Amino acid sequence: MNPTDTLETAVADLEALESAGRGALEGAGDPGELEAARIEFLGQKQGRLKTAQERLKTLEPAARRAYGQRFNQVKTTLESLLESARVRLASRGQALEGIDVTLPGVPPVLGHRHPLTQTTEELTEIFGRFGFAVARGPEVEDLWHNFDALNIPQNHPARDPLDNYYLAPPGGVESLHEHGLWAMLRSQTSTVQIRVMENQPPPVRVIAIGRVYRPDTVDATHSFMFHQIEGLMVQKGVTMADLKSVLSLFARAYLGEDVRIRFRPSFFPFTEPSVEVDMVWHGKARWVEMGGAGMVDPNVLRSVGYDPEDVSGFAFGLGIERLCMRRHGIDDIRLLYQNDVDFLRQF
Ligand code: PHE
Repeated sequence: MNPTDTLETAVADLEALESAGRGALEGAGDPGELEAARIEFLGQKQGRLKTAQERLKTLEPAARRAYGQRFNQVKTTLESLLESARVRLASRGQALEGIDVTLPGVPPVLGHRHPLTQTTEELTEIFGRFGFAVARGPEVEDLWHNFDALNIPQNHPARDPLDNYYLAPPGGVESLHEHGLWAMLRSQTSTVQIRVMENQPPPVRVIAIGRVYRPDTVDATHSFMFHQIEGLMVQKGVTMADLKSVLSLFARAYLGEDVRIRFRPSFFPFTEPSVEVDMVWHGKARWVEMGGAGMVDPNVLRSVGYDPEDVSGFAFGLGIERLCMRRHGIDDIRLLYQNDVDFLRQF
């Protein structure tokens, strides 16, 4: 105990303690420094504030009250400084962990529709303007819709098992001789012509877009699965001139005003006469084949119960991949199925 201690010197020491404590707590740069400052000033055992509190006993009883009041103020001040230093360092810690709200944001990457889907939507929209509704049919198809109803006879080479994906009968491949071939993955969207006409009387004006399957070896222009757009218009008095008008209007809408189209004689069992449809545009010299077309064969109209004396119609089938590739200058069909984001991002 220090008998010479007076209230004045004790309070002066208290004030020096307060400003030293303020400096240490406010100046702490990380949680470690702050903890050291807390122990030095507010520590329960040997903290400087604890020592200052014990000094009370050395003072004259008359001085104790004034000293005690001042002591309490200093203690409250240092405790609240400790608290605000904790808050300050905690928020700084979060910023260091990567949540710096002042950094510019990272824009989320948005996906978009596949180029084939975009093509499909565009074709649907163009033919919609010409009054064509959308029809659909199954990809697993029976032989009636894929062949018989389309006037493709039993012995026709188009039915060759090497050119089609036939499905095993319900009893397995062993029961093939019993059941015969019964179902397949459709090889053309012309199946949908039949399904539409079986279900509604003329007039008919539809397109059908979807996948078709053929066991072709994959290369830059072939795939075992691709997409077709089928068109069918049947009513009184439809002629080849209507077919050519509709396909020219379509070609101009999809490929540009400078496109020209030409028909070359061809053969399909379900159209008579039949043509291949070629297109050329942007002043290029080379004609590109886009698909087949023709006037619906009377046998097909009869197979769905239509009267070929009363109505006539045209049909066409174009390759979607081919249209999409010509339009965008894509030279390898495989690019459309690989899901390479760098490729897809361009469309
Ligand atoms: N279905 C034929 C094909 O896949 C295309 C076609 C459709 C031809 C309609 C004439 C009429 O090759």
